Amino acid sequence: MLPFERPHRPAAEGFGTRPASDASGQRAAEARLAEAVGLTASIGVTVVHSAVYPLRLRRPSTLLGEGQVEMVRQSIEEQSVAVAVVDAALTPVQQRNLERAWDCKVIDRTGLILEIFGERARTREGTLQVELAHLEYQRTRLVRSWTHLERQRGGFGFLGGPGESQIEIDRRLIGERIVKLKRELEQVRRTRGLHREARRRVPYPVVALVGYTNAGKSTLFNALTGAGVYAQDQLFATLDPTMRAIRLPSGRVAILSDTVGFISELPTELVAAFRATLEEVAAADVILHVRDVAHPDTAAQRADVLGVLDDMAEGPDAALDAGWRSRVIEVLNKADLLGGTDHVPGGQAPVGAQAGAPGSVAPGQDGQAVAVSALTGEGLEALRAVLDERLAAGMETVELALPAADGAGLAWLYRHGEVLSREDGEHDIQLRVRLSPADRARFEQRAS
Ligand code: GTP
Repeated sequence: MLPFERPHRPAAEGFGTRPASDASGQRAAEARLAEAVGLTASIGVTVVHSAVYPLRLRRPSTLLGEGQVEMVRQSIEEQSVAVAVVDAALTPVQQRNLERAWDCKVIDRTGLILEIFGERARTREGTLQVELAHLEYQRTRLVRSWTHLERQRGGFGFLGGPGESQIEIDRRLIGERIVKLKRELEQVRRTRGLHREARRRVPYPVVALVGYTNAGKSTLFNALTGAGVYAQDQLFATLDPTMRAIRLPSGRVAILSDTVGFISELPTELVAAFRATLEEVAAADVILHVRDVAHPDTAAQRADVLGVLDDMAEGPDAALDAGWRSRVIEVLNKADLLGGTDHVPGGQAPVGAQAGAPGSVAPGQDGQAVAVSALTGEGLEALRAVLDERLAAGMETVELALPAADGAGLAWLYRHGEVLSREDGEHDIQLRVRLSPADRARFEQRAS
């Protein structure tokens, strides 16, 4: 699924093509260019040059004006650039013409995002969705060669009958692959319900990180999990490299799960693929919404993220339950850039049990917010405490008497709950246990 040869780690040239007629337009264009450069860098290529080219008119043949195409060509030639990323949707014709004019690989915004999703997809459904979106995108763009597909899948090149041109063969093979992928996806969806059920049986609560691209999710993930590797990690390492166990101040263990970053103006054909990469969010007990509070567009980014999650909670095939907002804690990250957690707007007024804790806790528009710097570590203790409290709030304390011989029942309670006290009698064991309402119901069902 690579639009270019990765082993060479090619240098890339990034171009924003937003209209930039006034000052705010210029700022928006630059923010968008910065996002595109960040996205490009995240697929492991070196960005050597980036620039905004205002469009007076969208030329059907090359999108950019003739003079602009020439300017870019010169800089590509001077710096031996291997890939040019155009942060706009290019038609197949525009892409081909630009590749000819610049004599290098050209990818547009959709191609770039597909590349990122391809790397980040973890679940089987996610991987299939991304491959499907990629093939559908490429099918219209078959021109000179389809060599990377041949290289990847192996042996595609010689399967065609005599008289078929290479492009016809490629089209047919891609068509066949698409049909096959759709069938596989159907099957995966049918079993998805079963997977969810299995997830629910994971004995630890799940905390999912979501956030706009570049908000600092990975940095926070590393900061929260970096203190040590827990034995529990082994349970998940093989399942999913973006899941790690963390221990909270009370000793409670939770699973922290990183997700793909949200991106502005997601091309519609990629929405399904994106949703599939977010499956963990649906299963999460707490959703940590990581925000870059130092970013000039932080409010718009927040709205974008919430909007996508809202969409996921709609319709008969909704991936998220309607009450997801109550599970969100906002993490106001990059506080260091504003002079510390005390200077983060909305991060001043402590609430709940965290009053006076280091770092700041304040209500966001929909709930709790914690100011932190994932980079310096400031505020992370407060965040851990809030997480602990939130997870505890979802639990109920129950008193139970278990027959002394019920070793399996005892083990189950230790695995699923937090045993607060235990008295071993001659015939039974008295326990006070904190359990989630669902586990409590399960335990009671088992007992009846
Ligand atoms: P995607 O993978 O694109 O979704 O990004 P992400 O949300 O995982 O962001 P990542 O952790 O990669 O951080 C993006 C950039 O922000 C990196 O250059 C980080 O070093 C920087 N960063 C993250 N947290 C902080 C912070 O608290 N303060 C400052 N100053 N920079 C930070």
